[in-house]
Amino acid sequence: MTDRYAVIGNPVSHSQSPFIHNEFAKANGEDIRYEKLFAEVGRFEEVVRAFIAQGGKGLNVTLPFKGNACRMSTELTDRARAAEAVNTLTFTEDGRILGDNTDGVGIVRDIVDNLDVPIVGKQVLILGAGGAVRGVLGPILAEKPASVTIANRTLIKAESLAHHFADHGSVSAVGYEDLRGKHFDLVINATSTSLNNDLPPIPPGIFTARTLAYDMVYSKGLTPFLKRAQAENAGMLADGLGMLVEQAAESYRIWRGRQPETRKVTNMLREVLA
Ligand code: ATR
Repeated sequence: MTDRYAVIGNPVSHSQSPFIHNEFAKANGEDIRYEKLFAEVGRFEEVVRAFIAQGGKGLNVTLPFKGNACRMSTELTDRARAAEAVNTLTFTEDGRILGDNTDGVGIVRDIVDNLDVPIVGKQVLILGAGGAVRGVLGPILAEKPASVTIANRTLIKAESLAHHFADHGSVSAVGYEDLRGKHFDLVINATSTSLNNDLPPIPPGIFTARTLAYDMVYSKGLTPFLKRAQAENAGMLADGLGMLVEQAAESYRIWRGRQPETRKVTNMLREVLA
């Protein structure tokens, strides 16, 4: 019987995950069925249980259910526990629900392997302090950057994250005005501003000719954050499409035991979105 997987979210219609996973399966000569699963807020668990009852093997979880998926898991990986969020669920024959989070590995692989920018020893700035940041902080700190600075409009949220991850490495919290006069090797925009065609209130001067400016959101053209980085002559610009494909690849590896090739799929997806 064909193994069944899906991405569950609300909304979910825009998700590129079926395209990505079907391409991975095709390239590996595997027969899987991967669909989109919509759940009303408040009915996440019910929809997941129905999927399991129909023989579903695994789910990718997107907004707003990553916390629900974490709570529903009977076992969590260390990285999912640190993130307090799960984006990959695996259902075992004996009824266990394994929760993992592949977002952090996704962004690290995109930056370090695909863009060929090592994080070790770098001064890293992360903009935002929401769930997106919580999901990636552990794996970024595991790369041993010199420091990670979290800047957020609501300072207390950045402080709370810095405190939560203090054991993982050198991490501090600041407001946007504190960034004046400072510059960084890697600046990651993890705010939701790009979704509203906006950018966070960064002071001028944080980018240099050696900076990689990375937006976790992907879009057809440059996001306002990447336009600003370009105007300030940042050395390199990247959006989150590579991260999207890499986090999917890690989910695929967890489910199928094989690491899929990502570059071709990212290029295809870039063309689909153009
Ligand atoms: P996610 O789970 O996607 O990270 P979230 O938890 O709602 O979503 O977090 C959104 C992030 O974008 C937050 O860091 C938010 O800042 P606040 O914590 O101060 O709300 C940030 N954000 C959203 N709009 C912003 C804006 N116009 N300027 C600066 N930061 C913004």
